[in-house]
Parts: sequence; structure tokens; C-alpha cells
Amino acid sequence: MVSIYTLTLSPSLDSATLTPQIYPEGKLRCSAPVFEPGGGGINVARAITHLGGKATAIFPAGGATGEHLVALLADEKVAVSTVNAQDWTRQNLHVHVTSSGEQYRFVMPGAKLSEDEFRQLEEKVLAIESGALLVISGSLPPGVKTERLTQLIRAVQKKGIRCIVDSSGEALQAALEPGQLELVKPNQKELSALVNRELTQPDDVRTAAQELIHSGKALRVVVSLGPQGALAVDGSGFVQVVPPPMKSQSTVGAGDSMVGAMALKLAQGASLLEMTRYGVAAGSAATINQGTRLCSLADTLKIVDYLSRS
Ligand SMILES: Nc1ncnc2c1ncn2[C@@H]1O[C@H](COP(=O)(O)OP(=O)(O)OP(=O)(O)O)[C@@H](O)[C@H]1O
Ligand SMILES: [Mg+2]
Repeated sequence: MVSIYTLTLSPSLDSATLTPQIYPEGKLRCSAPVFEPGGGGINVARAITHLGGKATAIFPAGGATGEHLVALLADEKVAVSTVNAQDWTRQNLHVHVTSSGEQYRFVMPGAKLSEDEFRQLEEKVLAIESGALLVISGSLPPGVKTERLTQLIRAVQKKGIRCIVDSSGEALQAALEPGQLELVKPNQKELSALVNRELTQPDDVRTAAQELIHSGKALRVVVSLGPQGALAVDGSGFVQVVPPPMKSQSTVGAGDSMVGAMALKLAQGASLLEMTRYGVAAGSAATINQGTRLCSLADTLKIVDYLSRS
């Protein structure tokens, strides 16, 4: 079985709380916060663990918030490999206003990552065994230039490590630069920004994804389409997977669950269709859950079963 690692350059310690009403100036009394690990690659590793697989999350951890993050991952039995960072790991805040049902998500800038800390993370990923999968997911922290990401991917690919990327904007563009990514998962908006044009028709999405394949940027492109599922393309064709109609509670964590599920299937040598079905099922399973924000194995398997029969 191929090993899976994830790299998160901008991790977070997420806290969630409830408050009855929101208004300026006065004190807003909140419920006791619930803490959860956050950051793209970290959530991908958690999703893989939820699905019964194994992944090691590589990330910088700084200060007491970094220690808290590591402790939460230990509770969830997610393997970690960290680099000590000077700047404290950022904390994000999610507030649910009970009277209105509104959700407020306060996202802080990522902790600064020095060149030396980046180099230590780079050393860790370069030590991964050839043939393993490395999922690079999330934003770039302040202090890291996009070219450093391009260099890192080039170096790990040279060692035979297969990269999966889920990012956006300039970081996504930089990650595609070396070419031959094992898998890239933009949503429609991210793909549109990447190819620098609007993608209004389903055919437009397919054409844009095929361009990435034909130009050698990636071996597989899965474009996630929210409630419409996903369109997947590789060198030999394309598949479309549409989830069953369902009542979605919260779409937070859908993308990370999808990427985790697809990494797991790729590690098992699954086909494009099988991988995409499992990814869509896990993404949709994450939206059913209000408690934990990632997919559960039971819900994922139920949806996979539906997709295999439809
Ligand atoms: N409202 C929904 N109903 C059912 N399934 C959904 C819904 N939203 C997302 N999904 C599932 O999750 C997958 C990924 O969702 P989406 O396309 O929103 O990714 P994303 O934009 O990267 O999400 P994120 O905000 O988590 O990064 C979809 O392919 C789909 O299977
Ligand atoms: Mg996403």
C-alpha cells in the first residue's frame, strides 16, 4: 500500500462557539468554545483517518496554539510530523448566531513562516519514500513566495514522490508550473481563475480541465462542482459524477473530505471513475454532518453504493 503524506504550510487552530445574537459595542456572551484542527492538508489527513486510512500530516507548529493543534490531532489518532515555528499557529473563529442561524467565519492571516522553517519542512517532504503520495493543500503563509512552492514540488517530484494539489490563485498556478501533478482538484471558480476566463457551460469546464491535461500540467484533474458533484479528466477520457439529492447542513470541509477520499483511492490504484465516485461521496457525506465537519465512513459508503448503482 502506498503511503500518504499531507503538507499544510498555513495550519490553524479553529474554535467554534454559539451566541444568541450579534450586535456592536456590547459584550456578546458565547458558549464554551469547541476546538478543532484546521488547515487544508491537516483536514485531508483527518478525512483519510475518518475513512479508515492512514496519512501523516506535515506542518509548522508554533507556540501554545501550535501545541494545542498537535494535541487535538493526537486525540484523533492522526500521525503528525511538525517543524517548530517561531510565530504562533493562527487561530480562526467560527460563530453561529442561534437566533438567526447566521454563521460568521473569522479567518486570521496565516502565521509567518521563515525561510529556515520552510527549508526544514522541505527537508521533511524530501525524505518521503519514492512512490508515496504527497497532498499539498491550503494557502501560502506570509513570508513564502509562490516560487518556493514551485521549487519544492519540482524537487519532490524528482525524488519520485507523487503530488496532489488543492489550492487556489497564485499558489495553484505556481504548483502547476513543474507539470505532471498526479491530481489537481480545483472547484469551478478556481479553475476559471486559473485559465483566466469564465466557464459558464459544462463543456467549458471540461475543455479547461482537458487543457491542463494536454499541456502536461497534471495527469488527472477533478473539478468539484458543489451539489452538482464533479467532472474528472485524465489522458484517456472524462467522467462525471453527480451525488444524490440531499439535505446539506454545512458545506465546510467538503473539499478536504473529497481530496482525502481521492488520495486514499489513488493510493489503492483505483480507476478515475472509482476515485471520483469515492471523492464525491466523501465530499457530500461531509455536508450531511453538522457536528464534525468532515465525512464519516458510514455516510461515504452509503453514497458510494448509490453512485455505483445509478
Ligand atoms: N451542497 C452540496 N450538496 C451535496 N454535495 C455537496 C454540496 N457541496 C459540496 N458537495 C460535495 O463536496 C464536493 C466538494 O465540494 P465543492 O465543490 O464545494 O469543493 P470546494 O469548493 O473545494 O469546497 P471547500 O469550500 O470545502 O474548499 C462536491 O464535489 C460534492 O460531492
Ligand atoms: Mg476547496
